[in-house]
Amino acid sequence: MSCVVIVGAQWGDEGKGKIVDIYTEFADVVVRYAGGPNAGHTLVVGDEKLVVRLLPSGILRPQTRCVLGQGMVIDPAVLIGEIDELVRRGHRGLEARLAVSDRAHLILPYHVLVDTLRESSSAALGTTKKGIGPAYEDKARRTGILAGDLRDSARLRAKIEAALDAWAPTIRALGGEVPNAAELVTALEAAKTRIVPMLAHTSELVDSAIRAGKRVMLEGAQGTLLDIDHGTYPFVTSSSAVAGGASVGVGIGPSRIKTVIGITKAYATRVGAGPFPTELGDADGDHLREVGAEFGSVTGRPRRTGWLDLPALRYAARVNGIDGLALTKLDVLTGLSRIRVCVAYDTPSGRTRDFPIDELQTPNAVTPVYEELPGWNDKLETARVLDELPTAARAYVRFLEEGAEVPVYLVSVGPRRTETIMLHNPFVGRAAEP
Ligand code: IMP
Repeated sequence: MSCVVIVGAQWGDEGKGKIVDIYTEFADVVVRYAGGPNAGHTLVVGDEKLVVRLLPSGILRPQTRCVLGQGMVIDPAVLIGEIDELVRRGHRGLEARLAVSDRAHLILPYHVLVDTLRESSSAALGTTKKGIGPAYEDKARRTGILAGDLRDSARLRAKIEAALDAWAPTIRALGGEVPNAAELVTALEAAKTRIVPMLAHTSELVDSAIRAGKRVMLEGAQGTLLDIDHGTYPFVTSSSAVAGGASVGVGIGPSRIKTVIGITKAYATRVGAGPFPTELGDADGDHLREVGAEFGSVTGRPRRTGWLDLPALRYAARVNGIDGLALTKLDVLTGLSRIRVCVAYDTPSGRTRDFPIDELQTPNAVTPVYEELPGWNDKLETARVLDELPTAARAYVRFLEEGAEVPVYLVSVGPRRTETIMLHNPFVGRAAEP
């Protein structure tokens, strides 16, 4: 039995697409468990570059069963658009391999409308404007629409009417126009025909796969510091991005999960507003943005860039129970004469090695304490074992590993699948043959 969770250890955009895709070579089932089309996982296959938002990264592997779990919020139009785009690119048989939880919540046009109106107000958080927050608000308010409601048009319409009644004062206060329920239901007809055949009790499907000895990968979205409970609240997304969220978002018991892999870049980035204590506003920050192509894969926004934050990484290791780290984008540091790493914080109550999650709510209350490491100029892309890295790059990996107090399982030295140093694969040698 082998069930692995892959989770972002920073503010999202850690390069999960590539890492999940590498591990899915060994997985029979890949499941997304939280978030929605706010995610943008970039997959690079040969010369083809693909960004998937809703579909699990395993979608490019013809043998892999892909599941959209019940912790997700799914925009039907985005889902259909994404499937059609992959078909257009020559990927076949997708719908037969896809299962959509009938308990997942739908993102409908009024969620996108509210998100967009709020983002043009003074209360803007810098969201992706994909309707994520309002859809999860509906879930908590118990006025959400389940994917399974697509099976019954009368029920769907009644629920949409109730949701619109609840949203109407908010939409009007934001200067918007309340959509018409009947029109929304009609507009969903085409998507309904495509999505209903893919609906499934995915909790049962995934649990059975695990019990049958299949290799199951639970694919996180966003990152630990964007998690609704453990992130830099209120500058967070609206779902449980952490590893614990996988149990709830898939509908399996925590005891089923065997390994947690955390993904971290060799530096840090963030999009949207909110605390980012190691943020750079200088030439080094520009280097990270330009060389690392740090522009949002969903929104195209330039990402904020900064040095690696070890207290944050230890925090992520704790709240996720990370067994091993996948370190991405080490090659982006090539060419920097020296590299800084935050190892502690100066806070009003003294120096601490802990991530000051509470103090971060007060602007400028904490100051990162840095250590400086030598940089390197050699290209890393051809390295396939740690010993092929320049001495300074190897020292950086060891420094990170010791500072994070978690072993490194994988180092990514370029965007391609092959540009990877694999140190430990949690699937190999553990799973029964499918
Ligand atoms: P929302 O998830 O669209 O509501 O956005 C809330 C916050 O999470 C904003 O700061 C977004 O920029 C951020 N966010 C959401 N999804 C991602 C992601 O996949 N990568 C990085 N940041 C994200």
